[in-house]
Amino acid sequence: MSNQKPLNVGLVGYGFMGRTHSNAYGKVNQFFDLDRRPVLKAVCGRNESNVKAFAERWGYQSTETDWHKLLSRSDIDLVDIATPNDSHAEIAIAAAKAGKMVMCEKPLGRNPAEATRMVAAVENARTPNMVWYNYRRVPAVTLAKQIIDEGRLGKIFHYRAKFLQDWTISKDLPQGGAGLWRLDASVSGSGVTGDLLAHCIDTAIWLNGPIQSVTGATETFIKERHHNLSGKIERVTIDDASAFLARFDNGALATFEATRYARGHKALYTLEINGENASIFWDLHDLHRLRYFDHRDEGRLRGWRSLLITDGDHPYMKHWWVPGLQIGYEHTFIHQVADFLEGLRTGQAAAPTFRDALATDLVTDAVLRSAKSGRWETVGRG
Ligand SMILES: NC(=O)c1ccc[n+]([C@@H]2O[C@H](COP(=O)([O-])OP(=O)(O)OC[C@H]3O[C@@H](n4cnc5c(N)ncnc54)[C@H](O)[C@@H]3O)[C@@H](O)[C@H]2O)c1
Repeated sequence: MSNQKPLNVGLVGYGFMGRTHSNAYGKVNQFFDLDRRPVLKAVCGRNESNVKAFAERWGYQSTETDWHKLLSRSDIDLVDIATPNDSHAEIAIAAAKAGKMVMCEKPLGRNPAEATRMVAAVENARTPNMVWYNYRRVPAVTLAKQIIDEGRLGKIFHYRAKFLQDWTISKDLPQGGAGLWRLDASVSGSGVTGDLLAHCIDTAIWLNGPIQSVTGATETFIKERHHNLSGKIERVTIDDASAFLARFDNGALATFEATRYARGHKALYTLEINGENASIFWDLHDLHRLRYFDHRDEGRLRGWRSLLITDGDHPYMKHWWVPGLQIGYEHTFIHQVADFLEGLRTGQAAAPTFRDALATDLVTDAVLRSAKSGRWETVGRG
């Protein structure tokens, strides 16, 4: 193990995602045989005492309070961006120019213009890059990809995805600032379209190919909220709910829906795909199961199977415990780091790259355009 080459990580942002990423870097070499070993070299955040406390808890060797300083350090190989969406483009473009590898949280940019500049920056610098669309690496979702690629579903007719939460229903919830930047579109880019639906769209493109056109509607249920930064009541600029129809290149028709106003649902990401021979269904609240129905089964025994994805021949599972024992959300990030490091070894970039993630920004942009125009909108091609 000692001959593993170190990969010095500089993390920007130490909130929710800063924790999932740090956990992944710390665990990956214990479960995967890799020739690189992430080293928690530095974490960057604007508040010195908070960033120092985070560094101590997670084992980072040093801290910075300005990301420009982090990027100028010669001992950083990989810059990992886990900040709110308004800083992704600036940090990623500067990191690529500084010759760093870049991993960036989703959505890539707040809009396709930002995302396009980010793609150009990493491609011009020829530097390894990846976006943290982690749901691709839930073993059950990866198995769905394998099943589809093997042609078991036959021609795909329908794709159906939802991502439902309920944490913004209170009219007293403020917008803006720490923890609530998602409610301010100047920071987030959009509401649930760019936040929750971006996950659904990334998975959908991966499983079922490019999306051609969309028609959607959005709603902002609470029009004004107290803004934590200005101290004033301000207009709410995000979409609270978003629903759209889509046509895929392969002819499939799709429905997508996301909201933060679905009382009782916390992070209910579900997807269902119906093909001529078989269907699959997956649910994040039961993430270690994949439901599968195959019409070619003997009639008397035909029905929905509920596959428990814990066996060694299921994706990623041979790295974990023994058959029957489950893994969870945090493992998807560990899988992502493992695949990124393996991509460095083989020279085959692990997906989703920045270019792959631009495709999602182009779909969310078309959805928001359609919500304004009331018409079907063509999805731009990157
Ligand atoms: N992959 C996923 O499933 C997933 C889940 C949640 C969030 N995200 C994405 O991750 C990103 C971060 O979200 P989060 O939930 O971790 O947010 P968060 O608010 O919990 O954390 C953001 C962190 O960034 C820091 N920060 C803000 N501006 C900064 C700057 N200029 N320099 C340095 N640090 C700065 C904040 O202090 C905080 O530590 C967002 O882009 C979000 O869309 C992805």
